[in-house]
Amino acid sequence: MAHRVAIIQGDGIGPEVVTAALKVLEATGVAFEWDYVLAGEKAFEKMGDAVPDETIKKIKENGIALKAPLTNFVAKGYPGPNRALRRKLGLYAAVKWAKSYDGVQTLYPGVDIVVIRETKEGGYAGAEQQVGPDAAVGLNFVTRRNVHEVTRFAMEFARRMGRKKITITHKANALKLTDGLFLLSAQEIAEEYPDIECDNMMVDHMAYQLVKDPLKLDMVLAPNVYGDIFADLVAGLAGSLGIGYGGNFGPDVAVFEAVHGTAPKYAGTGIANPMGMMFSGAMLLNYIGESEAGEAVKNAVAAVIRKGETVTKDLGGKANIAQVTDAVIWELQN
Ligand code: NAI
Repeated sequence: MAHRVAIIQGDGIGPEVVTAALKVLEATGVAFEWDYVLAGEKAFEKMGDAVPDETIKKIKENGIALKAPLTNFVAKGYPGPNRALRRKLGLYAAVKWAKSYDGVQTLYPGVDIVVIRETKEGGYAGAEQQVGPDAAVGLNFVTRRNVHEVTRFAMEFARRMGRKKITITHKANALKLTDGLFLLSAQEIAEEYPDIECDNMMVDHMAYQLVKDPLKLDMVLAPNVYGDIFADLVAGLAGSLGIGYGGNFGPDVAVFEAVHGTAPKYAGTGIANPMGMMFSGAMLLNYIGESEAGEAVKNAVAAVIRKGETVTKDLGGKANIAQVTDAVIWELQN
């Protein structure tokens, strides 16, 4: 039976890179049925809502989605489509995977870091308020229950992927109650997983450590804001934002997406890197139990990067999206 997957084509470079990824997924021979759903700028223009209820309903029905990036525009009273999507689907964990593949120019060959970002609470919970014309306050929201959920997800992910160690990052010395509760609650769950080594590191020291010796880090579990920042940082360490990939997870639903945003300056040019979206597609294949096809896609993309002849500008090449897609499909089928 065909796997039914909701597809969000997104904004900016989104439609181009997601179309490339779908061609690669189809080339694996796994049977799919794409269920296109509307979100982002086009949905807002058409329906006055960047994440319409119909879209949420279809993603929940399918239980799985491949999502291109959405512009985080600010409209009056609107929280931004990515946050709205996470909130409406109850997505509590984001996986951001950064690996420096052979052939990528990077200061740090061998980087292979997974950041697990808490995505429901923290400083992005959206609890902000204007206090008079010249001041504003925002809340940092943390609950034991949510941290337990995201930590359990991280531990299970580590087990499934054969990872050995998780480092919890925080600023519990300064934010004693909020980050303190995050650390404590995460450690409570970590104790249930003696096979996964768990330590913790202050967020500022982690920034230093990531640049000084990123090979020492395996998986990072981070509150919402730090996780957002470190996801891009580790993608840079691995060589390009264009190849970072991951997924967002909630109760009975998974939404896979690349780490990068809509890259407006490349929209419509055909020269953005589609590989982050292809790797996200490989992760989707693993999630639906098609792990052989998932590994094949990863290996095919990695081979194209290693050969270096058909890569986009961010990886030092001159190829366009169509050429990269053909090269990946050739690797898959030969
Ligand atoms: P961005 O990731 O779109 O771009 C950052 C830099 O990386 C730019 O120089 C861009 O041209 C380059 N870049 C990004 N993806 C690339 C690719 N696939 N190939 C080659 N180069 C690539 O981040 P930025 O500029 O901060 O955000 C642009 C928009 O995207 C904003 O509205 C932002 O909120 C949104 N965004 C959405 C995300 C999502 O939907 N998950 C994630 C990050 C940003």
